[in-house]
Amino acid sequence: MEQTQIATEPAAVAVKRPASDSYYDIHLFICTNRRSNSKSCGGNGAERILRHAKRRVQALEDSVNLSIRVSSSGCMGRCELGPLLVIYPEGTWYRCNSTHDLDEIISEHVIGGGRAQRLMASL
Ligand code: FES
Repeated sequence: MEQTQIATEPAAVAVKRPASDSYYDIHLFICTNRRSNSKSCGGNGAERILRHAKRRVQALEDSVNLSIRVSSSGCMGRCELGPLLVIYPEGTWYRCNSTHDLDEIISEHVIGGGRAQRLMASL
């Protein structure tokens, strides 16, 4: 009698993707959500920071060899820390209260490849 072996599927394992799998080299998401009854990123200047980020990145693309995208996002669930931004592929969270803060994040993280330690939002 012939026996059929049935393969069992291995348990799913999350695999960390290398940066090269990202469509963009760097993708900044800036929360611009606005809440009427509590602190929110949109109510604390996030739209101004988003406009500044888009201008900075547009100017940068001529001088760095990276594809960079800036997108607005909805609420990321940490409103009390806002305005917030997250940079992928690293998934690094920053508190960004001013265009000066944004310039520091661009300089240290996007251009320098490090972290703007002073502005990182704790996990
Ligand atoms: S409003 Fe920005 S994280 Fe909630």
